[in-house]
Amino acid sequence: MYRSHNCGELNASNINTEVTLAGWVQKSRDKGFMNWVDLRDRYGITQLIFDESRTDKTVFELAKTLGREFVIQVKGTVIEREAKNKNIPTGEIEILVSELTILNSALTPPFTIEDETDGGEDIRMKYRYLDIRRNPVKNSLLFRHKVAMEVRKYLSDLDFCEVETPYLIKSTPEGARDFVVPSRMNEGQFYALPQSPQTFKQLLMVGGMDKYFQIVKCFRDEDLRADRQPEFTQIDCEMAFVEQEDILNVFEGLTRHLLKEIKGIEVEKFPRITYDYAMKTYGNDKPDIRFGMKFGELNEFAQHKEFPVFNAAELVVGIAVPGAGNYTRKEIDGLIDWVKRPQVGASGMVYVKCNEDGTYKSSVDKFYDNDDLANWAKATEANPGDMIFVLSGPANKTRAQLSALRMELATRLGLRNPEEFAPLWVVDFPLLELDEESGRYHAMHHPFTSPKPEDMALLETEPGKVRANAYDMVLNGNEIGGGSIRIHDKATQQLMFKYLGFTEEEAKAQFGFLMDAFQFGAPPHGGLAFGLDRLVAILGGQETIRDFIAFPKNNSGRDVMIDAPAAIDDAQLKELHIKIDAI
Ligand code: AMO
Repeated sequence: MYRSHNCGELNASNINTEVTLAGWVQKSRDKGFMNWVDLRDRYGITQLIFDESRTDKTVFELAKTLGREFVIQVKGTVIEREAKNKNIPTGEIEILVSELTILNSALTPPFTIEDETDGGEDIRMKYRYLDIRRNPVKNSLLFRHKVAMEVRKYLSDLDFCEVETPYLIKSTPEGARDFVVPSRMNEGQFYALPQSPQTFKQLLMVGGMDKYFQIVKCFRDEDLRADRQPEFTQIDCEMAFVEQEDILNVFEGLTRHLLKEIKGIEVEKFPRITYDYAMKTYGNDKPDIRFGMKFGELNEFAQHKEFPVFNAAELVVGIAVPGAGNYTRKEIDGLIDWVKRPQVGASGMVYVKCNEDGTYKSSVDKFYDNDDLANWAKATEANPGDMIFVLSGPANKTRAQLSALRMELATRLGLRNPEEFAPLWVVDFPLLELDEESGRYHAMHHPFTSPKPEDMALLETEPGKVRANAYDMVLNGNEIGGGSIRIHDKATQQLMFKYLGFTEEEAKAQFGFLMDAFQFGAPPHGGLAFGLDRLVAILGGQETIRDFIAFPKNNSGRDVMIDAPAAIDDAQLKELHIKIDAI
């Protein structure tokens, strides 16, 4: 038996007990005649004491050879500590050691294994297994497990059945590139790793499984960001015989359950806003609604005066920043520079100070009088003491720029409190999105999403106006989940592929299996998928998902610990029928 207890569970009630513990040496304090060692495992830290007058001489001497991160086993007696530490559960006791076994020595770790480490991101990723010994990473993994368990519990109680679907499949389009795997047995042919189990979960509905879920890895070859990894995990769900309302209710219930169980927070019914409203009001389809600063459209009040920039713009739009009326000229100039950076791309910014006495002072006083500016203040819901910032230009671009400014200001003003949770649904997404480069429409969600029946007629005439039965769940400015009601008949699915520019042959070759299945009694169905990594990170008060993944990839898609991806040898290439230099 390696241990009778773990390093987090002994306390004053165990005094005088003989125990065996095993773990890592966090640190030792050698005072010559007395040597204290902090022994750490996943569960906590227990202090060991080696005392010249009470400890066997060989044990006492051996303890002096212990280095950081040595793996040891000790036997000893639980005794009361003289200097108690109220901050840890084991802080009232220590172990007077009688036997010590070094199970393994350790090199000095390349960074300190403490909550606040001296190791930079790169070195911690290279030695991720050491990073995992640190509380912040270990606790994130335990937290993730807790969330996943609550998800499984909640859905299983509602009769959802977890079914595994294959990883070696054919392309499922979710808007990214596929990772592909060459087939040795089928020369010149490739599997694609699933971007999601989308088609399989729909086939499970045809198979009568009714309520499916799966906590599942998905693979997408796309540019990486703080909230994106090339392999990530979805809570993937599908239900048969449902309408949009049923799905929203079930998964709002799941999210409410998680907020309550994990964070102890009760949330009222989630607001629902349309995609159009989100874009107009926040310039963004995943608005952070923990704070206001809603957009006020100003065309009506700002155009047809003498200011040519606004007159020429498709959209003039502003936000009122609470309490920012006292910003100095330098602060304002700083923000103007910020919106002019290429990442944001505005050409300039107009500001209006809302004075406490109800008057206004703006950067365009030459063109607008107090009454004009009062209208701007009304449209942006500005109060005395606020500052209004106004951008203008092409509508979509300008909204995106103002949205970036809104988020930046909220961060600077401390309005994005990670312990506050503001979930909402965004509904009525457009079915199709125009790709400006190719001039072609592609599915905004995915090609299996059902158009709203009342918009079907628009498909021929104004495809960009067709709305879908598609929805996203947004939490604190992040898209944590999305889904749709699906097409479940062959004719509509065929039509959809046609609108998406597939020839009949292409559609048949890629998705014939699905359309065939639809001919054998496919029930109406729909579902959604949450991004588990994102959900866990946000519930954990952060937005970087890497911290909640045991072995993440870096921004170049590399695992620097195992050094992947890597070249493979010629024999393996040959076996796979791949000729590198033929490309
Ligand atoms: P979607 O593509 O919206 O939908 O993905 C669902 C959720 O997965 C998360 N997500 C990611 N998380 C981390 N890294 C990534 N690269 C990444 N990409 C997506 C997001 C997103 O909301 N099959 C559909 C779902 C459905 O229609 O039922 C799908 O995959 O949180």
